[in-house]
Amino acid sequence: KAPTPYYYTRPDEARLLLHKRDRYAHKGTFGHALLLAGSYGKIGAAVLSARACLRSGVGLLTVQVPGCGYPVLQTAVPEAMCRPDTHEHVLSGTTEVETTSPADFTTVGIGPGIGKASETLAMLKALLPTLTKPMVIDADALNLLGENRELLDQLPAGSILTPHPKEFERLTAPWQNDYEKLDRLREFARKYRVVVVLKGAHTAVATPEGDIHFNATGNPGLSTGGTGDVLTGVLTALLAQRYDPVEAAVLGVYAHGLAGDQVAEQRGQIGMTATDVVDALRWA
Ligand code: APR
Ligand code: MG
Repeated sequence: KAPTPYYYTRPDEARLLLHKRDRYAHKGTFGHALLLAGSYGKIGAAVLSARACLRSGVGLLTVQVPGCGYPVLQTAVPEAMCRPDTHEHVLSGTTEVETTSPADFTTVGIGPGIGKASETLAMLKALLPTLTKPMVIDADALNLLGENRELLDQLPAGSILTPHPKEFERLTAPWQNDYEKLDRLREFARKYRVVVVLKGAHTAVATPEGDIHFNATGNPGLSTGGTGDVLTGVLTALLAQRYDPVEAAVLGVYAHGLAGDQVAEQRGQIGMTATDVVDALRWA
């Protein structure tokens, strides 16, 4: 059996992936992202991923949240445009304020805090066939895919999925050991032509070509609610800036962990919050 291509992201490699900013750039250069996030009681997830997206260089950001999240988002993240969903508590995909279709954005990020309401599943089902550019899919959007696997075939090629191990298990099947887990990860990324970011202490990024890139930045301070939502914002910003999806995933995961490492070094691991990680992103 041929040796399997495993990679490890070195600091110098990560640095080379970072795009330089053109002196004559304008907002359009860095893309317009649409984030679909939040539900009643989880609007914080939308706030965190929106802030992280803005701290990662996106040109313009629109966030669609359930109606109840509108004043929260507009107050907490004034840089983002906000379109309230017609549904008060969950995302249903309809909005009266804006008519720009998701397909017209540079990229779409979906999942943080969205829950699994039937209206939200209906939104996902309607959304996927309309999208062709790589998107970012996280959290309950992944769980909805796991429960409706026929939708997996509709994922735009090159999309980035960011499951933690439980979410990945729901997308596939339980594994007996780490070798089986990695095989399953590689098979999944190949089969659906997507990039899978399997999160954990050593996040593994699987590419559609069957390569696996391990990340070594980050620390247990990141084991706190909301840091996953932050990663979704980072990756959405990189796709909006037209990074290649594999490079976006490798660089985004590296920078997210590095931000966590700076917070740990300067202020310790135990008190670390997802908001601290957002703030450290611009340095990372
Ligand atoms: N070392 C390095 N990185 C770590 C460590 C560690 N020991 N522990 C966690 N992390 C990183 C992961 O790699 C990942 O990037 O923190 C992030 C955690 O992401 P999630 O597991 O998605 O957690 P989060 O989304 O913030 O938690 C709220 O609970 O069930 C979930 O997905 C659901 O979004 C919901 C969530
Ligand atoms: Mg999560």
